[in-house]
Amino acid sequence: MRVFTDFDPSADAKSAGDAAYTTERIRANLSGVATILAIASARGGVGKSIIAVNMAAAFALKGRKVAILDADLNSPSIPFMLGMKAPRHFPMIEGIEPASGPHGLRVISSDIFPGGEPAPITFLGDDGDSVEPVRPPLAEMSYNQALQRILAQSRFGTVDLMIIDLASGLDRLHTIASMVPLDGVLLLSHPSGLDATATRHTLEVAKFKSPVLGIVENMVGFNCDGCRSVRPLFPEGNLSAVARENAVPILARLGFEPRLADSSDRGALFIRDYATTPTGKALSDLAARLETILSARPRAAAPAA
Ligand SMILES: Nc1ncnc2c1ncn2[C@@H]1O[C@H](COP(=O)(O)OP(=O)(O)O)[C@@H](O)[C@H]1O
Ligand SMILES: [Mg+2]
Repeated sequence: MRVFTDFDPSADAKSAGDAAYTTERIRANLSGVATILAIASARGGVGKSIIAVNMAAAFALKGRKVAILDADLNSPSIPFMLGMKAPRHFPMIEGIEPASGPHGLRVISSDIFPGGEPAPITFLGDDGDSVEPVRPPLAEMSYNQALQRILAQSRFGTVDLMIIDLASGLDRLHTIASMVPLDGVLLLSHPSGLDATATRHTLEVAKFKSPVLGIVENMVGFNCDGCRSVRPLFPEGNLSAVARENAVPILARLGFEPRLADSSDRGALFIRDYATTPTGKALSDLAARLETILSARPRAAAPAA
């Protein structure tokens, strides 16, 4: 079982029931972070984490200082995808130093907290109902409380870009938007009608509260070895219309690339190792477009308390 035993107890005691103190801690911890980009989606398995890792690597390879916050606390993927072996944070006085990934990436993830063998992480339901199996001390925390505690204690340091890899669902986007000033949100979607419809609903609500920069349509087709044409993987759900009607661009269309999945399972960086492939170039183009969009925007204001 994972336990968050290394949270700083004095900070916990101070922040318990003291919302202003927690807000101030989060503000202080993010004061050296120039830009925050969240990666979100309506549904799961659409490629958020792999895009988070490859965008982080793209910026790091250009010499930027990059942090990744793996906010999928139940199913963390970032340390695994980055090939971080037995990643550990470094406890500091009143804070957590992020673990070090390749190319200087600073990583905060529920996977870096010690607690024995990899095991499920469970939280209290936000309504206070426990989800089995729950064991102390997690039994005392909801997902939102755990995320807030992580933000209040993590020393991200001075970084040009922090990428937040969210769990799927609009709720997770709303939660993070209420805790940190988001400069941009990238929405991931499959092309299918099922996913395009879910993305439409998410976008219609998200765009009022969060700065959605655009959509990445992922796994649009498969160009198998020897095939003459690209074979669609999903029925066409008209994500382009969803984007157009909500006045956001489709920033990238990525095919199904088995070497991308293979790299993520091996903990290798696709964008570095396969830079000259069509998908490698599409990912680099996406990073360049994001950089252009983000650098043209004024810095986001802190969320209303
Ligand atoms: N374009 C793609 N081609 C091949 N595999 C992909 C592609 N996009 C994502 N994957 C793989 O699909 C799986 C799900 O992606 P992941 O990033 O974990 O999704 P999410 O974070 O949205 O749940 C991972 O194994 C990932 O490597
Ligand atoms: Mg994920």
